[in-house]
Amino acid sequence: MSLERFSEMPKSVDKSKSEDKKQRLVFGDAVEKDQKLDVKLRPISFDEFPGQTALKSQLGIFVQAAKKREEPLDHILFCGPPGLGKTTLAHIVSHTMDVPFISTSGPALHRKGDLAAILTSMKPNSVFFIDEIHRLSRDVEEYLYSAMEDYFIDIVTGEGLGARSMRFQLAPFTLIGATTRAGLLKAPFRDRFGIIQRLQFYNKNELVEIINRSAGLLNIEIVAHGALELARRSRGTPRVANRLLKRVRDYAQVKGDGIINKNLAQYALNELQVDELGLDMMDQKILSLILNQFTGGPVGIDTLAASLSEESDTIEEVYEPFLIQEGLLQKTPRGRMITEKAKKHFEK
Ligand SMILES: Nc1ncnc2c1ncn2[C@@H]1O[C@H](COP(=O)(O)OP(=O)(O)O)[C@@H](O)[C@H]1O
Ligand SMILES: [Mg+2]
Repeated sequence: MSLERFSEMPKSVDKSKSEDKKQRLVFGDAVEKDQKLDVKLRPISFDEFPGQTALKSQLGIFVQAAKKREEPLDHILFCGPPGLGKTTLAHIVSHTMDVPFISTSGPALHRKGDLAAILTSMKPNSVFFIDEIHRLSRDVEEYLYSAMEDYFIDIVTGEGLGARSMRFQLAPFTLIGATTRAGLLKAPFRDRFGIIQRLQFYNKNELVEIINRSAGLLNIEIVAHGALELARRSRGTPRVANRLLKRVRDYAQVKGDGIINKNLAQYALNELQVDELGLDMMDQKILSLILNQFTGGPVGIDTLAASLSEESDTIEEVYEPFLIQEGLLQKTPRGRMITEKAKKHFEK
C-alpha cells in the first residue's frame, strides 16, 4: 500500500452513502443480496456456531435451566458490530428452547399499536426479536417496560373523555434485542434485560472453521491455506468471511481450476482490493485521511465524518470497532488518532 495513492484523495469524497455500501466488500452490515446467503449459512444450534466461547457456554446454561423450569428465558441484549452473529444467536436460542420466533426491528416498529398487536398474539414463551433495538422510538420503548417486567400492557380505547385504559395480561415471553450501539440505550431500558452479552470479533481459527463449514454448504472446494488467507482478511467477521468466500470462488472458477488455494486467494483478494489486514478501500480511506489531511490526528468524529461524506454513527458503529481492535486507530478525548502500526502499514 503506497502513500501516494491516497495523498491525492479529495478532501471530501462525494460518493453517496448507499453506493459506498454496495461497493464495500468487507462491510459487516447485511446488504440485500446477502440476506439470502445469511439464511442459507445460518447455524441453528450452538454446536454449529464456532467462536464466542464464553458467551455460548453461559447462554447454554441459561437456556437449559429455563427449559428445565419450563419458564421463558430472561430477556437478552446482544451487542456488537454488524455481522458477528447477533441475529443468528437469537435464532439459535429460539430453536434450542423449541419456541416460536417473532422478529421485527427498531425502525419498523413505529407505533405502540403495532407492538400491542404483536405482544397480545404471542404464544407462551416465544422469543420476540427486535433488531437495531436502539432505534426504537421513545414511546414504543417505554411501552415495552411493563411488558418486559410483568408481562402486561395497558391498552387505551376510545378518545377524550370516553377514553378507557384496559390492562391486558400477556403470555410470558423472552425479548431478545440486538444492537450495534448499546451505549445509546437508556439505563432503565438496559436494566430490564437480565442477560447482556457483548459479541467479540472472531480469531483466525474460528473464522477458518466458519469458512470451511460455509464452503461445504455451498459446494466450494477450498484448501487449508486458502481458508486461512480468507480468514486473515475477513475483519474478524463471519458475514465478511462468507461474502469473501463467494467472491473468491468466482476467481477460482474463472482464473483457476475451481479450487481456492493460498495463491488464488491472495490474487483474488488483491483484485478485490482487500489488503493483508483485511482493510478495504473505506478503511484505507479513513486511515489515510487522518494520516494525510489531519497529520495523524487527533480529529473529531464529526469532522472526519464530513470529510468522508459519511454519518458519524456509521463510522462509529461499523468502521471504527475493527480498526480500534486491530490497534490501527485510537480514540482519545480530543478525537481519533492513527497509531504507529497504521503508519507502518501504509509505508509498506
Ligand atoms: N459463529 C458463527 N458461525 C457461523 N456462522 C456465523 C457465525 N456468526 C455469524 N455467522 C454468519 O454470519 C452471517 C451474519 O450473522 P448475523 O447473525 O446476521 O450477524 P448480526 O446479526 O450480528 O449482524 C450469517 O450468515 C451467519 O450465518
Ligand atoms: Mg442481524
